[in-house]
Amino acid sequence: MYDTPKVENDVATTDIKISAHGCQVYYGDTHAIKDVDIDIEDTTVTAFIGPSGCGKSTFLRCLNRMNDTIDVCRVEGDIKIDGEDIYDPKVDPVQLRAKVGMVFQKPNPFPKSIYDNIAYGPRIHGLAKSKSDLDDIVESALRRAAIWDEVKDRLLAPGTGLSGGQQQRLCIARAVATEPEVLLMDEPCSALDPIATAQVEELIDELRGQYSVVIVTHSMQQAARVSQKTAFFHLGNLVEYGDTGQIFTNPQDQRTESYITGRIG
Ligand SMILES: Nc1ncnc2c1ncn2[C@@H]1O[C@H](COP(=O)(O)OP(=O)(O)OP(=O)(O)O)[C@@H](O)[C@H]1O
Ligand SMILES: [Mg+2]
Repeated sequence: MYDTPKVENDVATTDIKISAHGCQVYYGDTHAIKDVDIDIEDTTVTAFIGPSGCGKSTFLRCLNRMNDTIDVCRVEGDIKIDGEDIYDPKVDPVQLRAKVGMVFQKPNPFPKSIYDNIAYGPRIHGLAKSKSDLDDIVESALRRAAIWDEVKDRLLAPGTGLSGGQQQRLCIARAVATEPEVLLMDEPCSALDPIATAQVEELIDELRGQYSVVIVTHSMQQAARVSQKTAFFHLGNLVEYGDTGQIFTNPQDQRTESYITGRIG
């Protein structure tokens, strides 16, 4: 259904980071994800697009077991990261989520100070040797999320006191502070103005150097700007997956074409 990694001009394409096969998700009787197979590459930005309710967030949440926290939700199939089954009973979901960070559709800062929102993860995972180490991690994460200048004079103020767009950038800073290997972003820019959106897109591009980034977006322009691979979902099916340029200029499936030309969704 989609391209398998190829060797072109003697250069192997990027390694596979996440591999899902036969993935099904049910909420009670609702079959929200239907037999999805996908190989997501390392050091690549992959965009998930598709109409509202097609299952983008649901599938994204499978990749760090966030669906475990929803009682009625049942996930089936095989999802591997670096070849390891992330649903294996010996996998600790807390450790998994440090490696596979997530930024949600709605900003959700902890009810703590701006500083502690960022320092929390690095502290519990022992990433800082000293207070000054931790200060550096906090500053660098806030800078990468393009919010340092706005908060540097009020690091001890509550994170919940920031504007919606600032809270979202705080959550992005929190996600990158633990240096995850995979970053899942669910419409990370929907609460941001164009300047902050551009800064976050720059950050995404920078993160791609080291990480696998998966971003859900309703903006085709954003998908085209930031991603190298695009997956189009429709009614719980992964309809088409391939190079972003190809999906947007030469879609193979009628449903993809209708969506990108604005006829569905
Ligand atoms: N917690 C839940 N309980 C029950 N059903 C759910 C839950 N979350 C999602 N669903 C259902 O699963 C399907 C897929 O929803 P999902 O949120 O994954 O879509 P989406 O593609 O992210 O949509 P949007 O673009 O609007 O965010 C929908 O039919 C939705 O109603
Ligand atoms: Mg969603």
